[in-house]
Amino acid sequence: MKVLILYASRDGQTEKIATYIANQLSEMAICEVQALSSSTEIDLAQYQQIMIGASVHYGHFSSVLNTFIKRHIAQLDQLPGAFFAVNLTARKLEKRSPQTNTYMSKFLSRTPWQPKLCAVFAGALRYPQYSWFDRVIIQFIMRITGGETQTDKEVEYTDWQQVSHFAQDFLYLSYKK
Ligand SMILES: Cc1cc2nc3c(=O)[nH]c(=O)nc-3n(C[C@H](O)[C@H](O)[C@H](O)COP(=O)(O)O)c2cc1C
Repeated sequence: MKVLILYASRDGQTEKIATYIANQLSEMAICEVQALSSSTEIDLAQYQQIMIGASVHYGHFSSVLNTFIKRHIAQLDQLPGAFFAVNLTARKLEKRSPQTNTYMSKFLSRTPWQPKLCAVFAGALRYPQYSWFDRVIIQFIMRITGGETQTDKEVEYTDWQQVSHFAQDFLYLSYKK
């Protein structure tokens, strides 16, 4: 089975998750991992399954996500597909399901694509990598939501066991109604 894993990542965590999933699947499938931004012309007919992952910045997924979906919706409709969202709101367990994570539920209500499997993963907080402006804003949001505020810190909230389960579920997607 040949599968395509696409990601839209600004600071690297979504790419890290996509690569981790590909490694988990590597014994059972041939996995290609690519940035969404460099895949606009791709022919999806060569794959048996597709997975897309995207992170949230200032309330939005990258615009390349919707552009890609619009462009490829006819082929996407023919493939068993999965979608995962990465954000810091999901560091709180009660905001980590497709139903309770606002970014995911809004996305699903608006997109013409209907992925068979969806997950929300907590991302990473990497203050030292951010610009001054981003650092100040994120620190403010962390202060009001009870998160890490020390700007010399890097915290990875991603639950890798959750990611592994998602990868396993993805393997059986073709059999899911
Ligand atoms: C500038 C900036 C804005 C962010 N905005 C949000 C946000 O609106 N909601 C949220 O839950 N997380 C937000 N995050 C957290 C990111 O989604 C999180 O760091 C994620 O791991 C980023 O994934 P990436 O490394 O693949 O880009 C923001 C992070 C940064 C740096």
